[in-house]
Amino acid sequence: MKLLIRGGRVLDPASGTDGIRDILTENGVIREVGENLNAEVDTCVDASGKWVLPGLIDLHVHFRDPGFTDKETIRTGARAAARGGFTTVCQMPNTRPVVDSAEAVREAIHKAEECTYIHVLPIAAITAGQDGEYITDFAGLKAAGAVAVSEDGKSVMNARVARQAMRLAALTDIPVFAHCEDINLRAHGVMNAGAHAKSLGLYGILNAVEDIIAARDILLATDTGCRLHLCHCSTENTVRFVKKARQLGLPVSAEVTPHHFSLDETAVDGTDSNFKMNPPLRSRRDVDALLEGLHDDTMEVISTDHAPHTAEEKSRPFAQAPFGIVGLETSVGLTMTQLVHKGVLTPMQMAQKMSYNPAQIIKSQRGTLLPGRAADITVIDPEAEWTVNPRLFASKGKNTPFAGWKLKGRTVLTVADGRIVYEYREGSETLIDKDVRHLEE
Ligand code: DOR
Ligand code: ZN
Ligand code: ZN
Repeated sequence: MKLLIRGGRVLDPASGTDGIRDILTENGVIREVGENLNAEVDTCVDASGKWVLPGLIDLHVHFRDPGFTDKETIRTGARAAARGGFTTVCQMPNTRPVVDSAEAVREAIHKAEECTYIHVLPIAAITAGQDGEYITDFAGLKAAGAVAVSEDGKSVMNARVARQAMRLAALTDIPVFAHCEDINLRAHGVMNAGAHAKSLGLYGILNAVEDIIAARDILLATDTGCRLHLCHCSTENTVRFVKKARQLGLPVSAEVTPHHFSLDETAVDGTDSNFKMNPPLRSRRDVDALLEGLHDDTMEVISTDHAPHTAEEKSRPFAQAPFGIVGLETSVGLTMTQLVHKGVLTPMQMAQKMSYNPAQIIKSQRGTLLPGRAADITVIDPEAEWTVNPRLFASKGKNTPFAGWKLKGRTVLTVADGRIVYEYREGSETLIDKDVRHLEE
């Protein structure tokens, strides 16, 4: 099987390539990147006027499978990923049961392989059942295929357990993905603490809820030598701490979500829980610090924290609705519109933060267009203008605060291992997974 992607602006951080090139793939592998390639191929795609990036990688998604499949399944989540331009996603373990055993890791991998061509990689829990007490078997989890360990949804609150886990992670050489939230300090909080929360009569979540654990975990990573990745950073202080850690040469990385760089707390009106997520939308000052951190590469990764919930759950009063919003199908559009078109990031930085850097963190060989590597490729139309319509989402979750937003920049082609898994052409879309029923539709 040969695929030729012609005449696009190739952006490959690994080789530093930024220029008009053709890409030839053969049997799932990148064969050649060059000018005016001529080859007999099965499929030829004209990418003139488009950007060609290594397949996008999202280090942070929730697919709810098993246990909460009314919110999402691996199949629907993977379809949403492909539609958003992602060829690899890392799944958080807060399913039911929690992914805390080698068997559960293998089961997640098996399920994904049955339904999708994209790569759905499991992240395993730090403690059994995410109860914060008994550390899981990191070596066994890694051997089964877990790419990281995380307690996402909460923090390991006991610092002694957290430190032990980081020592073990360092020994096992598996990264720790930290959700930073002091649950005692968060208490009943549902949105950013401050005057706006007061005016809405809602309990606030202080920046310190995040800052305390971010600082603690950086200190413990220093002490234990583990690779630490901070999830969904939302505060000015977290950016400062990460900057300091990186200046000291510590193996600390950090991600920012599109919602945290696109919105601030003033978007919350106290009725629409599509604006409720954890950590919450912060102050303008925090958002500006995140933008600066992205710009100066303190913040190396853009991840979605794709967190689907049912319409019923999200229609509850703000204080009662679950935290979380979907993100896979708006990430490219928001990153292009809010960061690239506004000059916060160069196109190459976007390729770094959405593909190359995430690949480095999980030690994946993907995230590049170097010949010989897997042919995971994402083609973006930088000028395409579109309006976010949750009804068109492949995800079961329609819980987005961006409905009706006009965005500039969209995914037009997603290729996983040399196979087209998503294509947008002249307003019509094709999604391909291993579900024969979809192919027949
Ligand atoms: O908004 C969030 N949703 N934050 C989390 O930490 C968990 C996630 C979820 O699982 O719904
Ligand atoms: Zn989280
Ligand atoms: Zn999460």
